[in-house]
Amino acid sequence: ENYDMVFKIVLIGDSFVGKSNILSKYLKNEFNEDSKATVGVEFGSKSFSIDNHSIKAQIWDTAGQERYKAITNAYYKGALGAFLVYDITRKETFDSVDKWIPELKANGSKNMSILIIGNKSDLEDKRQVTKEDGEQKAANYGVAFMETSAYNGENIEVAFDTMVKGIYEKCHKELEENKEVDIQEKGIEI
Ligand code: GTP
Ligand code: MG
Repeated sequence: ENYDMVFKIVLIGDSFVGKSNILSKYLKNEFNEDSKATVGVEFGSKSFSIDNHSIKAQIWDTAGQERYKAITNAYYKGALGAFLVYDITRKETFDSVDKWIPELKANGSKNMSILIIGNKSDLEDKRQVTKEDGEQKAANYGVAFMETSAYNGENIEVAFDTMVKGIYEKCHKELEENKEVDIQEKGIEI
């Protein structure tokens, strides 16, 4: 298949924050209560049409565990976007954002679109990180922020749409100014 553009987007963040479930919820509307830790790298993709350009969003998912760090370089290579995920019920995963950001800056492309995600927003009673703290941290780094739930689907599509549109707009900034972006989903490939 031919696409006008392919957007590589990576999921990063500590282990067990819900990266794989965010992806499966988005692509398959599936949530897995006891999903296993990701081994190696998994992929999924979705195609879009924006302003009559066919675009493939190729999403990469890997394990948050320290021991998989060796794959870092290949993982980030050519990525135009990154979802940096933490778990709102575990403060330490939020603190880890401060470790992931420099890693992204060191390995990612210069004007990568970064979206920090506070996942598991359905677990309000177990919350350890306020939404305001999430917003503040993202603002400090000058990146976007959103809370999501892979469990009930809150903001999952919004997060991916925001990312894809953001990358597209960056690509076209110099070409088309102040143009409304028309985005349509065209299909899923797993
Ligand atoms: P690694 O692959 O080890 O890096 O983990 P991961 O970030 O891919 O996490 P995964 O998607 O495997 O989810 C970890 C656990 O959290 C699983 O038990 C999921 O069911 C659960 N989980 C993920 N997202 C949510 C969510 O939004 N809400 C709730 N309640 N549980 C979630
Ligand atoms: Mg995983």
